[in-house]
Amino acid sequence: PFDVDFDSTKLFKYQGCWYDDKTLQGVLNFQRGFEPQDTDIIIASFPKSGTTWLKALTVALLERSKQKHSSDDHPLLLDNPHGLVPFLELRLFTETSKPDLTSISSSPRLFSTHVAFQTLREALKNSPCKIVYVWRNVKDVLVSFWYFNSAKLKIEEERSILDSMFESFCRGVINYGPSWEHVLNYWRASLEDSKNVLFLKYEELKTEPRVQLKRLAEFLDCPFTVEEEERGSVEEILDLCSLRNLKNLEINKTGKTLRGADHKIFFRKGEVGDSKNHLTPEMEKIIDMITEEKFEGSDLKF
Ligand code: A3P
Repeated sequence: PFDVDFDSTKLFKYQGCWYDDKTLQGVLNFQRGFEPQDTDIIIASFPKSGTTWLKALTVALLERSKQKHSSDDHPLLLDNPHGLVPFLELRLFTETSKPDLTSISSSPRLFSTHVAFQTLREALKNSPCKIVYVWRNVKDVLVSFWYFNSAKLKIEEERSILDSMFESFCRGVINYGPSWEHVLNYWRASLEDSKNVLFLKYEELKTEPRVQLKRLAEFLDCPFTVEEEERGSVEEILDLCSLRNLKNLEINKTGKTLRGADHKIFFRKGEVGDSKNHLTPEMEKIIDMITEEKFEGSDLKF
């Protein structure tokens, strides 16, 4: 066990990653008990890397092949993306390794996880399930984490907390950390033909959303038809899932997750490079050095 200063949580190391005790229990239950079905889609990420956005995009992509929706009964208008794509270890498997999943209504089933690739169950790693992983510059991840934690605790963003989180983050001692290895292990899996892992980058989703959405659609076996493209379906989904739109939906302004967190805390600024406004040049330099060392030999660059 390791005491983390910034929120006095005790973290425990399991298979190379740190978890608080509640999360670890969910991770163990999930690892022990999850029985994948071949058509399952799993959205995986390190926290604060764009999980909510990817969930929304995936739901929107799959929905378009189903029944036509009227203007106000699209699932994204009725529920938060985390309600539509539940976390395995943080929601479904928190209490038991054998939850009743028969009530999962999405087809194919959609789940999400922040668990590191090495800790996924062998049955899942070697199954035909599709895993979509989204990664993001760790500096922005850290700053997003800081805002998120403050919002969750309903406190002001204090500089001293960011300083303390920075220390922990750099040592990898943060829930699900270290983040660099998290990214690397999913990246390695994405290179293996036998694994069904699509590796998406938050920054590329921002700069070339059309290209990335089409990649996602193809990976999920629901590519856009020429007719759909002409009709503007790609733009329609991007608009529906834009930060501005999701943030302003009533369900996301006022709703709460099962654990009692406000939906709105998942939607903030969504900018690339916001960390520049909060990290000192010295902090940035340290993170850059760690990144260079950890990513050496891979093609990865933030
Ligand atoms: P910021 O705190 O930098 O604004 P996660 O979903 O993994 O928890 O990540 C949260 C981050 O994604 C937050 O980043 C949030 O604002 C951003 N985000 C949420 N929804 C988004 C969307 N639809 N488009 C772009 N970014 C989004």
